[in-house]
Amino acid sequence: MNLENKDPVYVTEALIAEDIDAYLLKHQHKTMLRFITCGSVDDGKSTLIGRLLYDSKMIFEDQLASLENDSRSVGTQGGEIDFALLVDGLAAEREQGITIDVAYRFFATDKRKFIVADTPGHEQYTRNMVTGASTADLAVILIDARQGVLTQTRRHSYLVNLLGIKNVVLAVNKMDLVDYSAERFYEIVSDYSHFAKQIGMDSFLPIPISGLKGDNIVTKSAAMPWYQGPTLLGHLEEAPVNDARMQEQPFRMAVQWVNRPNLDFRGFAGQIGAGQVAPGDAIRVLPSGKTTTVKSIVTFDGDLDQAVAGQSVTITFADEIDCSRGDVIAQTDAPCEVADQFEATLVWMAEQEMLPGRPYILKIGTQTVTATVTEPKYEVNVNTLEHLASKTLGLNAIGVVNISTDRPIPFEAYATNPDLGGFILIDRMSNATVAAGMIHFALRRSQNVHWQALDVDREAHASLKNQKPAVVWFTGLSGSGKSTIANIVEKKLHALGKHTFLLDGDNIRHGLNRDLGFTDADRVENIRRVGEVAKLMTDAGLIVLTAFISPFRSERQMVRDLMAPGEFVEVFVDTPLAVAESRDVKGLYKKARSGQLKNFTGIDSPYELPENAEITVNTVDLTPEDAAERIVQHVLTRMS
Ligand code: ADX
Repeated sequence: MNLENKDPVYVTEALIAEDIDAYLLKHQHKTMLRFITCGSVDDGKSTLIGRLLYDSKMIFEDQLASLENDSRSVGTQGGEIDFALLVDGLAAEREQGITIDVAYRFFATDKRKFIVADTPGHEQYTRNMVTGASTADLAVILIDARQGVLTQTRRHSYLVNLLGIKNVVLAVNKMDLVDYSAERFYEIVSDYSHFAKQIGMDSFLPIPISGLKGDNIVTKSAAMPWYQGPTLLGHLEEAPVNDARMQEQPFRMAVQWVNRPNLDFRGFAGQIGAGQVAPGDAIRVLPSGKTTTVKSIVTFDGDLDQAVAGQSVTITFADEIDCSRGDVIAQTDAPCEVADQFEATLVWMAEQEMLPGRPYILKIGTQTVTATVTEPKYEVNVNTLEHLASKTLGLNAIGVVNISTDRPIPFEAYATNPDLGGFILIDRMSNATVAAGMIHFALRRSQNVHWQALDVDREAHASLKNQKPAVVWFTGLSGSGKSTIANIVEKKLHALGKHTFLLDGDNIRHGLNRDLGFTDADRVENIRRVGEVAKLMTDAGLIVLTAFISPFRSERQMVRDLMAPGEFVEVFVDTPLAVAESRDVKGLYKKARSGQLKNFTGIDSPYELPENAEITVNTVDLTPEDAAERIVQHVLTRMS
C-alpha cells in the first residue's frame, strides 16, 4: 500500500514493514509524542484508540468499509461502529477478549506524530506494561465511569509513576453511560487525587470522555458543557515531550560504538541522552574520568555547530584519550556518578523467581556488565502499596534490592535520567530478559571500601608451597561419589607433598552455611559462599577440592569466572540417577520418593548437566580409586 497517496495518514502494524521509512520521512520535522494507554479490557481501551484514529480521519476508506461490515456482523455495539475491531487486529485476541502483547501504533496529525503503546490490563502482564512505558512521554489511564477507581487503576498508576512518566491523563470513559454526570466525574477525580498523592504523583489531567460516542476525543463534547478543559487529542498535541525536558540537563552521551574508518578519524557515536553539546565544550569520559574538549560533531548531513538530547551524532575529541563502547561522555563540570553498588527497584518479569547471589547480565545505557542482586529489602504490594518482607521476587513482583556490578559503571538516578538509570537483567543461560530495574542511588559503601594492597601476595604464598593453586570442583548428584573420590584425590596429593584442602557439602552445611536449606535460592548462596572461600584458599596458595552437588550451570560458571584462567578444574562425577538411587547410602532418595524430603536433586529439584567439564568420570565403569588417579594426573600435568 502506498502511503504517500493517502492523506491523512494512518499506519497500522501491517504496513510498518513496507512503508514506515517513507512515512517517517514525510513527518520527520514534527515532534514525536510517545504515549501508553493503560486500562482493562472492559474500560474500552481499544475502542478509545480506534476512535482517536477514526475521528482524526486517520483511517483509509477501504479499512472503514470493512470495519462497518465487521461491526454489523459481530454486532456487539448495537448499530455503532465497533472501533475495538480496528485495534484488536488479531483473531486470537478477539476470541479471548484480551490484548496480550504491547502493540505499537503510529499515527500523525497536522501538529505532531505519535507512537502509542497499547498495553494489556491483566495483572500477569505487568512486564508488557513496563516494556511499553519505559520510553513513554505520557500515559493515558482509563477508567470506566461506572466502576470508578479500581485496584488495577492503582496498579497501573503506581507503575506509571515508578517508571517516571510525568504526564498523566486520567481518561474517565463511558461518560455516556452515567448520563454525562459532572458529579460522577468529580467524585472519581477526587478519589483518584487521594491515591495519586499517596504514591507521590505530582499531577494529572482528568478528561471526561466517551470513546464510543466520541465525546472529548477530538472534538469538544456538546453533552458536557461543564467541562472546560482540552480534548484528549488536543492535549496529546500540546503535552511536553521528554526530549525537551532532557535538553535542560547537563550533557551526557553513552557511547554506542567507536567509529574508526581509518587512522585519521576516530569518532564516538551515540544518541545524546541529556543536555547539549558544541565544538569546544569541555567533556569528561566516564568511568575513567579523563578530560578533553569536543573537536567536532559529525552527522550524515555534515558537521553541526550544536547538538541536543535525542539526536544521534558522532563526536570527535581534541585529544587522543581512551573511550570505548559503554563509556559515558559528560560535561566536565557536571559529570555523572560512577559506582559498582546501588539500591534499585526491580520489576521481575520471568516465571523463574529471582535468585539472590546469581550473576545476571545487566544492560544499562550502552554498557553490559555482570551483576548480582541481594535479597529484597522489601517487596511492594502494588495493590495496597504495603511493603512486604520477601526472600525473592516472583513473576510481576516489584521490590527494592541492592545490586552489585563486577566493575564500576557511570550512571544517574532513574528519576533524573531514565537512559542512564534504567537497566534490564538478562539470564546468562537462557538469554531471556528477567527484570527491568531503576537505580535509586549508589551505596556509599561502594565508594568507601577499597582493595588493600598486600605485600605477601598469592604468588608468594604459592611459591613457598612450591605449587600452582587450583580448584578441583566436583559436581554431580547426591550419592554420585563426589566426596569419596575427592577424599582419595586429597590423600594422593597430600602423599605427594601438596598443600590441599577439601571443602565438603555436608560439612560446610554444619558450619558456615548452617543457615541454608535446599531451595534454589539457598543453593545459589551455598555455592557463592563456597566459591568465595575456595578463591581465598587459592590466594593462600592451596589446591582446593570441593564436593558439592552444585546443580546449576550459572553458579558453576560464576565460580569459574572468580578464579584465574586455568585454575578451575570442573570434575563431573557422572553417575546416573538410577545408580545413585540404588546405592542410597544416606537413605535420602527413599525419603524423597516417599515425599518426606522436598526439593531433592534429581527427584523434584533439577540438576543441570555440565557442558564443558575438564574431566568427566563415569563411576559405573571406573572404581573410585581409578577415577581419583585420573584426576590426580590431570592436576599434576597442569602443574608441570
Ligand atoms: S548443593 O545443591 O547446594 O550444592 P550440597 O552439596 O551443599 O548441595 O549438599 C548436598 C547434600 O545435602 C547431599 O549430599 C545430601 O546428603 C544432603 N541433602 C539434604 N537434603 C537434600 C536435598 N533436598 N537435595 C539434595 N541434597 C540434600
